[in-house]
Amino acid sequence: MTIHIGAKPGEIAETVLMPGDPYRAKWAAETFLENPVLVNEVRGMLGFTGTWKGHKVTIQGSGMGMPSLSIYANELIKDYDVKTLIRIGSCGGMQESVGIRDVILAMTASTVSTPSLGIFKELNFAPCADYGLLAAAHSAAMAKGTKTHVGGIYSSDVFYDERPDLNEQMVRHGILGVEMEAAELYTLAARYGRRALAVLTVSDHLITHEALPSEDRERSFGDMVEIALEAAFA
Ligand code: HPA
Repeated sequence: MTIHIGAKPGEIAETVLMPGDPYRAKWAAETFLENPVLVNEVRGMLGFTGTWKGHKVTIQGSGMGMPSLSIYANELIKDYDVKTLIRIGSCGGMQESVGIRDVILAMTASTVSTPSLGIFKELNFAPCADYGLLAAAHSAAMAKGTKTHVGGIYSSDVFYDERPDLNEQMVRHGILGVEMEAAELYTLAARYGRRALAVLTVSDHLITHEALPSEDRERSFGDMVEIALEAAFA
């Protein structure tokens, strides 16, 4: 048990999928895992452990934003010795070429600041994905026929953004989408020698202003979960 995770030692798998939304963790565990067992409900941040094709997997909510994800990822790594952490989440599209429902595999995550800023100070650390996971996720996505983009994303600190000029600079520099967690996940994975990747579904679009209708969400998010699972155990 840790401050924020109630699971007993051994109840968390070496591979953890991390959606922001705890109810999406429940849905993904019930939909894709065999024998999912609730292992955490501290603060309602649900976590489940089960198996996928015989492999033990935990799906643990991270909450929204880097400070929240940082708490869960730190405890998963340091207290449960998790080796592979894959964020599964939604993002806002930032390029015309990126459509609603497309999947983005985040090769890098640019950011204004992360909870790790205190360490880096003037250093401009470049958080990046584990290449093996990224390559395996790309192969899995191609095999499924999912429209997929690989490139840089932007991990913002704000959803309601009072600085649209920052988004404009990201768009201008080819950033594919915006979310709020991946940069800190990649930074922690680098610090502790773990594997991390963010597999994202485009749920809304900053340029075209389209948004995924709620009835489409589960099916589109399902592709992302399968891509993450296949990448983890490739
Ligand atoms: N901004 C930040 N995070 C997001 C967005 C967005 O537009 N869409 C989904 N996650």
